[in-house]
Amino acid sequence: MARKKILVTGGAGFIGGNFVQYMVNKYPAYDVYNLDVLTYAGDLTKHRNIENKDNYFFVKADIVDRGTIISLFEKEQFDYVVHLAAESHVDRSITDPGVFVRTNVLGTQVLLDASKHINVTKFVHVSTDEVYGELDFDPTTFFTEDTPLQPNSPYSASKASSDLLVRAYYETYGLPMNITRCSNNYGPYHFPEKLIPLTISRLLNDEKVPIYGDGKNIRDWLHVWDHCKAVDLVMHEGREGEIYNVGGHNERTNLEVVKTIMTILSKSEDLIEFVPDRLGHDKRYAIDPTKLENLGWKPTYTFENGIGQTILWYLDNKQWWENILSGEYQDYFINQYTIKNAKNC
Ligand code: NAD
Ligand code: TYD
Repeated sequence: MARKKILVTGGAGFIGGNFVQYMVNKYPAYDVYNLDVLTYAGDLTKHRNIENKDNYFFVKADIVDRGTIISLFEKEQFDYVVHLAAESHVDRSITDPGVFVRTNVLGTQVLLDASKHINVTKFVHVSTDEVYGELDFDPTTFFTEDTPLQPNSPYSASKASSDLLVRAYYETYGLPMNITRCSNNYGPYHFPEKLIPLTISRLLNDEKVPIYGDGKNIRDWLHVWDHCKAVDLVMHEGREGEIYNVGGHNERTNLEVVKTIMTILSKSEDLIEFVPDRLGHDKRYAIDPTKLENLGWKPTYTFENGIGQTILWYLDNKQWWENILSGEYQDYFINQYTIKNAKNC
């Protein structure tokens, strides 16, 4: 296999981190460059097992820093760019939208310019189903690639804006690209501000789990390794200029997700605490993945075996999430929730 250079942005985060591990181990003939500025969500300890490998490189850089990014692209002449760097948490976007526009919109534009400048083979933009807005509770309706974009949160609006820029660079300049739009991920190294790792980590400390509103909102959960496989397939086989939805038909209400984790951990449902609803809280997300399945993808995890393995991972890797919980995250949690035992987190 010909040696290729792959730039992965956001490779110190949750999905990017799993994707870097997946690519470094699966493709010894590819040089994998992890570019990340290391925000609160980025950490490199997850890559200790690969940091001495010949095909792994780390670059600390901000994707908005045009001069640095253009010089890096000129020097390294990447073949592929897989773009995951982003501000990713909806609640933070409600409190502070500006940084979402900076990173997700302006940062994407800088990467597109750099990719066009050196004529990359392909730019893979990792986006989200949240750009489609919300569905109602009719279980026969799904997001397809043709669903109009109707983002409701500052996060999803910033991602939709970046999707449109990627599309425009394809239409205007012929930059080869694919966009993937995945449903909610879960799995190892998921930052404990998101529902599933928040629930697991708080239950393991016998702390209350905050559920927004009535807990009936629905998300479509996919194990992060199935997402990594999808991005790999799209990078290699995706038809130029196409968008692919990624999801495995694992719809659950938030209450069902939390209760499933409680059952596995033998914790009392008294630990549920209903808290005020998220502003503009999207009711339901659900993906129709037919187009990606026709390309040859199918998920390997059911929600049941994926969530069981994920809980085991959090039990085995307490040090990783406890380090996060003991840092600046404490202030975030207290500001975010009016939960009775917030000070105990
Ligand atoms: P994350 O918040 O865990 O990680 C984001 C990473 O990007 C961090 O390592 C952070 O340091 C880095 N980063 C942020 N700003 C940067 C900047 N200016 N320059 C360089 N690096 C920067 O996010 P995640 O959950 O792993 O999501 C990754 C991507 O996948 C995002 O684009 C997100 O929109 C998309 N996505 C996420 C989900 C999900 O369920 N988490 C689902 C679908 C799509
Ligand atoms: P989250 O993990 O933040 O992902 P997203 O908002 O991108 O879907 O939230 C998943 C669902 O869980 C969402 O409907 C909001 C809800 N939620 C809670 O009920 N309580 C919480 O503390 C958090 C973080 C989320």
